[in-house]
Amino acid sequence: MDSNGVSTPHAHPARTVVVTGGALGIGGAISRRFARDGDHVILVDIDRAAADAAGDEIMADGGECTLVYGDITDDTVVTEIAEQVSRRGGVDVLVNNVGDFRPAKSFFAKSPPEQWRRLHEINLWHVFTVTHAMLPTMIAAGGGSIINVSTVEAFRGIPGNAVYSAYNAGVSAFTKSLAVELGPSGIRVNAIAPDLADTEQTPAELMLAGRDPALLRSWLPAGRFGRPDDFSGVVAFLASDEASFITGHTIPVDGGTLAASGWYGKAAGRGWTNMPDGA
Ligand SMILES: NC(=O)c1ccc[n+]([C@@H]2O[C@H](COP(=O)([O-])OP(=O)(O)OC[C@H]3O[C@@H](n4cnc5c(N)ncnc54)[C@H](O)[C@@H]3O)[C@@H](O)[C@H]2O)c1
Repeated sequence: MDSNGVSTPHAHPARTVVVTGGALGIGGAISRRFARDGDHVILVDIDRAAADAAGDEIMADGGECTLVYGDITDDTVVTEIAEQVSRRGGVDVLVNNVGDFRPAKSFFAKSPPEQWRRLHEINLWHVFTVTHAMLPTMIAAGGGSIINVSTVEAFRGIPGNAVYSAYNAGVSAFTKSLAVELGPSGIRVNAIAPDLADTEQTPAELMLAGRDPALLRSWLPAGRFGRPDDFSGVVAFLASDEASFITGHTIPVDGGTLAASGWYGKAAGRGWTNMPDGA
């Protein structure tokens, strides 16, 4: 509220927020959310057209952003982010959102080592390089918030994606250890673990693959796919002072799938089953 009692969307002084993969999907919702909240977003994305479109949308909405184009696994892109951050006098919030299961989808025994390397770069390595590049300014400022995007598969097995899940378990382990290390510096480190988000990476239509949407209730306790804003709201909370006593945790944002692991709602709507024949 301002002195005239008018509600404003800026509940805090404008912060500088880096969002990797900030154009589309979950990252797209995160960058738009911070910009709406009055923060300056440094939006990093490999898809130049999608980044431009997101930037135009943010600015048309009265928000502020700086675009950095390129592959987050490329060191020159990390250097460019650090330069943009230093131009703004530091970074308050870092969201390491890039991640993808797609470079390899095959049984581990048949998967080639090159795939493990790319999965490593795209799911874990850049979390280290970007965080490492941002930390000096956060430590010097005596505070900041880092939010990593992991997955429920860090906690639950996923056949065909053993390497992807291992690197995301790494993201959650890194989150915990770094939170302990950085607690005395006033820096909080948390993560979210999404499941079943309707995004470009995992479109609802593709996941349903022609099945009756009514079956969703048997699959997901919440009975629907996640919308990008379901995830950005939790990230905004974790970055806020409301979460100032939360550090080192990965918060599942999954519509209840982890809680229900192994249990399926019966298609006809009568209770739950963990029987292989669904009965
Ligand atoms: N979609 C889901 O259901 C789901 C489930 C679990 C975890 N996640 C995790 O959430 C995060 C976001 O997923 P999403 O579904 O929104 O993804 P998405 O593929 O829909 O969007 C990813 C965004 O990152 C950008 N990007 C991709 N590779 C990049 C790179 N190398 N460098 C820079 N930018 C890059 C893309 O252009 C896009 O804007 C990922 O870490 C993913 O592993 C998603």
